[in-house]
Amino acid sequence: MCGIVGYAGTEQAAPILLEGLEKLEYRGYDSAGIAVLSPERGLQVEKAKGRLKVLRDLTKGGGTVEGVLGIGHTRWATHGEPSDVNSHPQLSAGRRIAVVHNGIIENYVEIKEFLSSQGVRFRSETDTEVVAQLLEYYYNECGDAMQAVYRMLDRIEGAYALGILFRDLPGAFIAARKDAPLLLGYGKGYSFIASDVTAIVKHTRDVAYMEDGEVALVTAESIQVFNAMGQPVEKKHSWVDWDVSAAEKGGYAHFMFKEIMEQPEAVRKTVSPRLRNGRVCFDELGLTEEEIRAFSRLFIVACGSSYHVGMVGKYNLERLLRRPVDVMLASEFRYADPLVDEHTLVIVISQSGETLDSMAALRQAKALGARVLAIVNVVGSSIAREADWVLYTWAGPEIAVATTKAYSTQLVLLDMLGLRFAEALGSIPEEEYARIVAELQALPAKLQAVLENTEQIKYLASRYFNHNSIFFIGRNLDYALGLEGSLKLKEISYIHCEAYASGELKHGTISLIEKGTLVVALCCYAPLFDKSVSNIVEVKARGADIVALTTESLAGELGKTAENILSIPDTHVILQPSLGVLPLQIFAYYVALQRGCDIDKPRNLAKSVTVE
Ligand code: G6P
Repeated sequence: MCGIVGYAGTEQAAPILLEGLEKLEYRGYDSAGIAVLSPERGLQVEKAKGRLKVLRDLTKGGGTVEGVLGIGHTRWATHGEPSDVNSHPQLSAGRRIAVVHNGIIENYVEIKEFLSSQGVRFRSETDTEVVAQLLEYYYNECGDAMQAVYRMLDRIEGAYALGILFRDLPGAFIAARKDAPLLLGYGKGYSFIASDVTAIVKHTRDVAYMEDGEVALVTAESIQVFNAMGQPVEKKHSWVDWDVSAAEKGGYAHFMFKEIMEQPEAVRKTVSPRLRNGRVCFDELGLTEEEIRAFSRLFIVACGSSYHVGMVGKYNLERLLRRPVDVMLASEFRYADPLVDEHTLVIVISQSGETLDSMAALRQAKALGARVLAIVNVVGSSIAREADWVLYTWAGPEIAVATTKAYSTQLVLLDMLGLRFAEALGSIPEEEYARIVAELQALPAKLQAVLENTEQIKYLASRYFNHNSIFFIGRNLDYALGLEGSLKLKEISYIHCEAYASGELKHGTISLIEKGTLVVALCCYAPLFDKSVSNIVEVKARGADIVALTTESLAGELGKTAENILSIPDTHVILQPSLGVLPLQIFAYYVALQRGCDIDKPRNLAKSVTVE
């Protein structure tokens, strides 16, 4: 995810900014840039695609950029591929304003259209450039930097942490925040802003966290903070006593855990820009209702966890669309002579957008005449570029090999695609549509609630971490969820795990159940609850230990049969796997932790598999 650092002081800003950005590298990025203001040389901007080293070399360690005031940024592409021109800082057309931004401006298309109609010319594909251009538009009208900022903030919607330099505002820069982290750092004769404390902790441990709606005017001597109405705010200072090395992962011991904890935010970023007035809107898709209706069949193709998203998707999309939906492993699809043609929509799901088998399947599908829609996390990746349409998950960079937040964002995006298609096909009653939209909106808070209640999961992990073989069972959506739960556990803990459709137990797996075998029974899917309970009884009769996952409203009933019950908040049935996957990820994490495994880099596995 993007990182921001800003400095106002008496030393040369550029080297300090570069050093701060280096500390934010752990967040992941694909380009970086700085803007420095000096009375002699005005507003200087340097930025480049690639690692920070490229920017370092370009600026000779910051030496070519002079001035004691500046802002810097590491970008992880969301709107527009990674490139020099899409990197931040983004400049206004008159080169008087430079902006760094973390977040997503949801109504950028509409503002861009408005400014274009006023003769403003855009250079990049980013939503951030809209902020710089809009600021200049208002600044031209009012001639006051702070006022222009407030007018711009009034107009934009979405999430943002912003650092803004005005060429005409010497000695100060402006920061603003809504739904994206930004903190202020206080020193003697210098001040900072940063996305997180890692970037500045070398210089100061005296910080204050900006709240939503606040705007700060930052100079070397002072930081003045104002609320959304422009009234001054007294900030409460905090003292950072973090160990600097722990801070590299945002304070977490592992990237995987950090990414698990980021899921409410990641899902919010995926969902909320695409919900408007209670409807799912894919501005970026450009698929017409006629095109949607012309598809007689959907085919989901992917690998690994992305394939498991497809398994959930098959159940959910068929339910919503009442159309056939196939799901196939990409490695199988490419050699299976699949039955797809020009009436088929092939949905390729991939976090990295570079998985070779998925890429080959995409090409195969196109060669057979199908149209391809990709659900991808990495902007500008090969799969995103070659697909006919692309929906980005906007989960931010995922560093741990075992995917967590990418899985969750793919899942909700596929559900939203289902809603959009169902609307076009007229296959969903209006009340049902509204119920799902309401639950999508409530999902980040419910995810957060699950993450705040992990003690029991931790305890169960400590009890079962030394097992050699674990089975996940479930029916329907619970079966699809079990596939992911089992993969997560085996990937990082190296325990042999299998997911089985409960109804199939009697055809094989039940012969492996003996006294003390752990069976993780997934029982969230209410229509088949009784049948799932019967399966629990069957394995218990063979001596199995049970860890069961269900919904809050079914937990009491399940308690009559199973002992170790984990529950998730009630939600619409199609969203249950989105909540249910969290306890399974956390269980896998703590089991692997107990076993002393290399959680972020499990043996023999790669994050992006670009070989067959
Ligand atoms: C690797 C990763 C998995 C991922 C799979 C597919 O095996 O370790 O976490 O699910 O590749 O990757 P993709 O980038 O296409 O989603």
